Amino acid sequence: MTRSLWKAKAQKTNYPALKNNITVDVAIVGGGITGITSAYFLAKEGKKVAVLESHELAGGTTGDSTGNLYKMVDKRLHHIQSKWDEKTARAVAESRAAAVDLIENLVKEHEIKCDFKRVPWYLFSETNKKDETIEKEIITAKDYGIKADTLQELPIPVQVSSAIKVEGQAQFNPAAFVRGLAEKIDSENCHIYEHTNVHHIEKGEDHVLSTQHGTVTAKKVILATHSPKGIYPVQTAIYPHREYAIAAKLNSGDYPDGIYWDTEATFHTSMRTFKNHTGNYVLVLGGHHKVGQEDNYERFFEKLEQHARKLFDVAEIEYKWSAQHYKPADGLPYIGESSDDGIYFATGFSTDGLTYGVLSAMIFKDLLSGRENEWAELYKAKRFTPIKSAKNYIKENINVAKQYLKDLPGKAEAERFYEVGIGEGKVVEVDDEKWAVYKDETGQVHCHSAVCTHMDCIVDWNDAEKSWDCPCHGSRFEATGDVIEGPAFSPLDKRDVKSRKDS
Ligand code: FES
Repeated sequence: MTRSLWKAKAQKTNYPALKNNITVDVAIVGGGITGITSAYFLAKEGKKVAVLESHELAGGTTGDSTGNLYKMVDKRLHHIQSKWDEKTARAVAESRAAAVDLIENLVKEHEIKCDFKRVPWYLFSETNKKDETIEKEIITAKDYGIKADTLQELPIPVQVSSAIKVEGQAQFNPAAFVRGLAEKIDSENCHIYEHTNVHHIEKGEDHVLSTQHGTVTAKKVILATHSPKGIYPVQTAIYPHREYAIAAKLNSGDYPDGIYWDTEATFHTSMRTFKNHTGNYVLVLGGHHKVGQEDNYERFFEKLEQHARKLFDVAEIEYKWSAQHYKPADGLPYIGESSDDGIYFATGFSTDGLTYGVLSAMIFKDLLSGRENEWAELYKAKRFTPIKSAKNYIKENINVAKQYLKDLPGKAEAERFYEVGIGEGKVVEVDDEKWAVYKDETGQVHCHSAVCTHMDCIVDWNDAEKSWDCPCHGSRFEATGDVIEGPAFSPLDKRDVKSRKDS
């Protein structure tokens, strides 16, 4: 089974589920870094806030992330500069640096035990094919006052053709940060509910959010759920991907802390170190792919392990996990109000989400208090950038259209339940309908409609995480049908296995 190092090491939480009907100023859906940091600020501003988390705090992408914080970006600053302009790239770097500083201040102010430390960030190429990329990033960094040192070698055992180092970036345990900050939120003004799944939002002058055992009425709603829950135009401009991580415990080797990004890796994309009283670890992260569009997901973990063993003296792989990210069409995240309706979201963070999550909270704090924010316009959620978005927009939406073709007759993976092995899931064609059929370790068969409850795409079995993943907008469901993440509100519809003769 997959398990994140951060969630395993962070303190547990025990917030109640919502059991009644309440009214607040701001309802926040999602208890990750965006939701909890927003709640912290808004409660401090005197607003009545409720946080509704469907699982446990930091139990989603935040707890499954890298734990890296940096002002640079996955897409590289020089790409932002060429797609947008110099002013934009500078603002991106400055706003992200401000978010990292803010995290550091919160950690210090509240003495949050989350292993926050400043570390260098490295960008390197193993062969000379990407030397030009490194060169451009050095020039761009220098233009923005970011000191980037060139290096001939790295402090980890990787041969490089070229490399740069930027000091002063940071790492922490993101789950420990979020859970620690949640304890410091003004509890008079903010209530946190865990295991409280929002399954419907009735929009109006006052929005009403329905959960299993109660409702929340609020004039303002923040969808801190990565992709916003429900159907929004922005979902055509954010593209869901998964990435994998392993934490390899080392027999020997004590490497300096740092964030190490490989520019040319087709598979492994970054590494970082981690130490505690049990030993030294190296985390290897990579294997991007579109959600729900692979045949063999377990192979990503296998390749990361091979890579770790090739470079380091690995004792064992203690943790392995995966996380989702959404790449934005025009290279920048979408943060702000959906459409003058009091619904706010923050999405399209790519793999830079911890820093952007806190930046989102900084923006929401001002917007929901009627103040201007210097970065709100740059990241605004309802921007329209057809020229900057066109290439990705066309390519990705053709890809989504192709996923809908899986609903055609004859496109199922099996026609009989006995073709589904123990611990396996398959899409089975039953009376012209696609069923998501999972056979658990005891041989019990769980049947659901394979039609995603968001916008009717056909889900795909993820063998590494035992989940049903939707290839269109990234909704993911447990093997037993419940929503894990993504824009879908409702679980997969149950189907009755007993109604089948061949079951
Ligand atoms: Fe949109 Fe499944 S996530 S159709």
